[in-house]
Amino acid sequence: MGAPVEQVINLIFGRWRSQILAAGTELAVFDRLDTTTPRKAPELAAAIGLDAALLYRLLRAQAAIGLLVEDSSGGFVLTQMGDLLRTGHPQSLAAMARLEEGPQHYALWKHLPAMITDGKQNAFVREFGHMAFDHAKADSDYSERFDQAMSSYSAAQSEQVLGALRGTDLSGVRVFCDVAGGHGYMTCALLNAYPQLSGIVLDLPEVVADRDSLWARKLELESRCRYVGGDMFKDVPKADAYGLKMILHDWNDEECVAILENIRRAAAGPARVFIMEHIVPGPDTPHFAKLFDIHMMCWGTGQERTDAEYTELLRRAGWRKVASHHAPNSIIGVIEGACG
Ligand SMILES: C[S@@+](CC[C@H](N)C(=O)[O-])C[C@H]1O[C@@H](n2cnc3c(N)ncnc32)[C@H](O)[C@@H]1O
Repeated sequence: MGAPVEQVINLIFGRWRSQILAAGTELAVFDRLDTTTPRKAPELAAAIGLDAALLYRLLRAQAAIGLLVEDSSGGFVLTQMGDLLRTGHPQSLAAMARLEEGPQHYALWKHLPAMITDGKQNAFVREFGHMAFDHAKADSDYSERFDQAMSSYSAAQSEQVLGALRGTDLSGVRVFCDVAGGHGYMTCALLNAYPQLSGIVLDLPEVVADRDSLWARKLELESRCRYVGGDMFKDVPKADAYGLKMILHDWNDEECVAILENIRRAAAGPARVFIMEHIVPGPDTPHFAKLFDIHMMCWGTGQERTDAEYTELLRRAGWRKVASHHAPNSIIGVIEGACG
């Protein structure tokens, strides 16, 4: 940490860094590089169809923020950080960069002061005329960015969820339903970790229709995993345990209670629910959840919540809170509820 003036300057120019990074993912520059063989701007520019002189300046800036290393003859290789921005990396963060710094999410942030002024949490409506999931139906570029980002980010998050659940007895669970589970990465991670499980992934029909992106297919787990296209506000499949990863933070309290009540009714018997979210800690702890909360303010009707706030949502929907699970140094926590 430098002096306060340097720290504030770094904060002011933070967006420059994320845009410099995201331009590399947008142009698929990182996919043309590796960690060992230096490549120069003219060679890359010819391969991708870019301007060599301007590309050189972008690569140099990416080296300045630790994504690349430049050698004395102008050749570039990926650092470990830059390697994570290749689309082929097993824990690739490229799709998340394309979403968060892409044109739709970028446009939302300018509405933050106005929303806080008038107390109306609706940046998507202010910018695009409707809320995010409705906008995704009309803008295929946005839905592609969103679904791919969720799917690839899930690799890192699922590891944290498995870490948090280590030591929790799931031997009695036979059918696990991931509510709004996207392309099903986390369900597949659970199927691999718990051999007795079979999985159901519920998501919107258009999401589960994208067969090439479904993880159970890619990971050859189709015999143990079923995808269901539907609406979690209307109908949820029967299961004995349910997961909600990065779902309740999309919605306001009333919407969350409706989702949790719907799940409880679908369970039709004793069941468990696992809420997987960035849990907001107390005032003395700086945490990514407190930043993500502002993104949620811009994105939809939701928010990040404290453990006590999730406990209260569970209570209102007829569940009882059983436990909170956290892996050490993990930014995702799991809150477990039970009913019946
Ligand atoms: C923030 S993403 C999280 C996806 C996934 N759980 C994960 O962690 O990667 C929210 C998901 O909710 C899904 N969704 C939105 N509205 C839904 C609804 N009414 N019923 C079912 N799924 C819905 C979206 O399609 C999207 O996949």
